[in-house]
Amino acid sequence: MNIQGKVALVTGASRGIGRAIAIELAQQGIHRLILVARDRQKLTEVAQEIAAMGVQATTLAIDLTQVREVNIAIAQLWRSYGPIHLLVNCAGVAYQSSFLRSKLPQVQEELSVNLLGMYTLTSLIAKRMASQRQGTIVNVSSLMGKVAAPTMATYSATKFAILGFTQALRRELAEYNIQVKALLPSLTDTDMVRDLKLFRWVIPMTPQQVAKALIAGLEKDSSEILVGWQSHLAVWCQRLAPWLLELVLQVATPPVIRQQSDATLMWTKTQRFADSLFSRNKRPFAFARKT
Ligand SMILES: NC(=O)c1ccc[n+]([C@@H]2O[C@H](COP(=O)([O-])OP(=O)(O)OC[C@H]3O[C@@H](n4cnc5c(N)ncnc54)[C@H](OP(=O)(O)O)[C@@H]3O)[C@@H](O)[C@H]2O)c1
Repeated sequence: MNIQGKVALVTGASRGIGRAIAIELAQQGIHRLILVARDRQKLTEVAQEIAAMGVQATTLAIDLTQVREVNIAIAQLWRSYGPIHLLVNCAGVAYQSSFLRSKLPQVQEELSVNLLGMYTLTSLIAKRMASQRQGTIVNVSSLMGKVAAPTMATYSATKFAILGFTQALRRELAEYNIQVKALLPSLTDTDMVRDLKLFRWVIPMTPQQVAKALIAGLEKDSSEILVGWQSHLAVWCQRLAPWLLELVLQVATPPVIRQQSDATLMWTKTQRFADSLFSRNKRPFAFARKT
């Protein structure tokens, strides 16, 4: 894709990878950027940085899980600044926890931002792109969308789903001249990973490296853009020696989380033992009541 003179909408543009992508697109000569996230102040700062490069920037402070608001905002945006040629779905959230300690509200948030938020925006913009018979959509998945990681089960599930969604849309929207691609960053140094227990041996990338990989992928017309040699190695290892990757993942899982899991399992076993003792003691009583 040639981005010269085009209009792009980037979600998650207030910080991290989305912000770096917006700035890189501006440096590479895009005509206008529409920056989407919830934090108005941070969006304004990114817009000012982009405007200083001579590129037009518009901000849209919105929660992507609020379907009605997003609907209205996109209709207005398209009227004022359309057509949008490039959509980068980058907003996302991640929680790390041993699965046995996972919390439903966090899982719901991962599903509503990473999947439903992406679905809402993509459907609104893809319909308009289809009527223009042109457009490119980039969905930000993750290496964890290819190689599921212990302690990140539900996040990994959303990132696997994004790859499936992307693959299906790629085939379905091709007849409208819309290209659909996936970007798969590996561990990247952003707010998202600040509180995570990192996996051993994984060297974090910078958001700028991810943004540059996206631009290179767009130029090469790649449909899945893997970022960094570690991602290529992991994906090849999964294809050629899945048992080896399994082993590496087991050893690389952060020790604290593994200890938590062991402790949780021990607690579950203790509970089960107590339950069985209790139910053994209860059974004669239950029997006695029935007769
Ligand atoms: N960091 C990594 O290691 C890594 C690796 C692979 C893939 N990724 C993916 O890359 C993408 C960006 O991650 P990041 O590392 O840059 O994370 P980040 O620094 O935490 O940024 C997340 C972005 O998403 C926005 N966002 C979150 N919830 C939103 C909502 N409900 N509505 C609108 N915007 C929302 C945030 O903006 P506001 O808070 O202002 O709304 C922020 O701009 C995510 O999809 C993530 O899964 C990250």
